[in-house]
Amino acid sequence: MKTRSNENKKYLKDLNKIAKKVDKFLKAFLSSQKKNSYLMNPIRYGIFSGGKRFRAAIIFYTGKIFNINQKELIMISAAVECIHAYSLIHDDLPAMDNDELRRGKLTVHKKFNEFTAILAGNSLLTLAFEILSSKNLKLSNNIKVQLINLLSNCSGHSGIAGGQFSDLNFENKKKSFKKIIDMQNKKTGELFSFCCESPTIIKQKDKKTRNLFKKIGLDIGLLFQLADDLLDYKGNTKVLGKPTKSDKKKGKATLINLMGYSKTLNFANDLKKNIINRLKKYGIKSNHLVSSINFILNREF
Ligand code: IPE
Ligand code: IPE
Ligand code: MG
Ligand code: MG
Ligand code: MG
Repeated sequence: MKTRSNENKKYLKDLNKIAKKVDKFLKAFLSSQKKNSYLMNPIRYGIFSGGKRFRAAIIFYTGKIFNINQKELIMISAAVECIHAYSLIHDDLPAMDNDELRRGKLTVHKKFNEFTAILAGNSLLTLAFEILSSKNLKLSNNIKVQLINLLSNCSGHSGIAGGQFSDLNFENKKKSFKKIIDMQNKKTGELFSFCCESPTIIKQKDKKTRNLFKKIGLDIGLLFQLADDLLDYKGNTKVLGKPTKSDKKKGKATLINLMGYSKTLNFANDLKKNIINRLKKYGIKSNHLVSSINFILNREF
């Protein structure tokens, strides 16, 4: 029988292959841009700092279900990882979570300074849209506009920015289950929903399929954030590369704070089963995506 750690090792190996492809593209894209940019160093520091590239894997493995070319998947993944990197740089700022450690290294504002971190973050946010609108992305302009429209939606006030607002606004307040889930969906779920919906846009699938994958992505994101909160509670700073026990210290409104660790873990396990069930009809084509969903609660970092 395969042990959980063997399964994790195999999964991480595959994840690393995807990460290398996305990083190779990002390095080339950045090198092709104007050289006289003072922000290039902090941008590189923020994006090539050893993230898992898990969102890229979700795009690759959903793309596999819909037979999408790898070149397109790499570019869409690169755009999403830029948005994710921006969100982390800003998340760590003193005005937000005020953290000094990220991916085992100093956070961008600690390595450089606050204004540099804010501006490098802004630049990574816009870089995502430079990638999606670039000529090298061989999709019709109509599809590109649909992708840009959706990604900007998922990143702004009804997505990451809105969710981050609630996360900070809810600190030290008692919030309902519904409010907490809404916050998690926005701050993390929406970007994952883009990861799963974008392949259906590229293939111009019907509304029903698009909505199915949009919702599956949203739930994968919720599951991912619940795992992040569980790891904050029980994980190891050295392995995680970021502080632990910090949600409690900061009075974050998490499900763990509302209903305890084991009830949250049960809720997450039920959610995981429910997501996997909805993928059953895609058979072996969805195997890699299912492995990714299993990895979320098995991961140690
Ligand atoms: C951490 O995301 C922040 C959340 C939205 C939970 P990841 O765990 O994907 O961070 P990296 O990119 O691997 O460092
Ligand atoms: C971050 O959530 C969510 C984002 C959208 C950036 P957290 O604040 O819990 O992420 P970590 O734990 O610092 O990575
Ligand atoms: Mg935060
Ligand atoms: Mg944080
Ligand atoms: Mg966290």
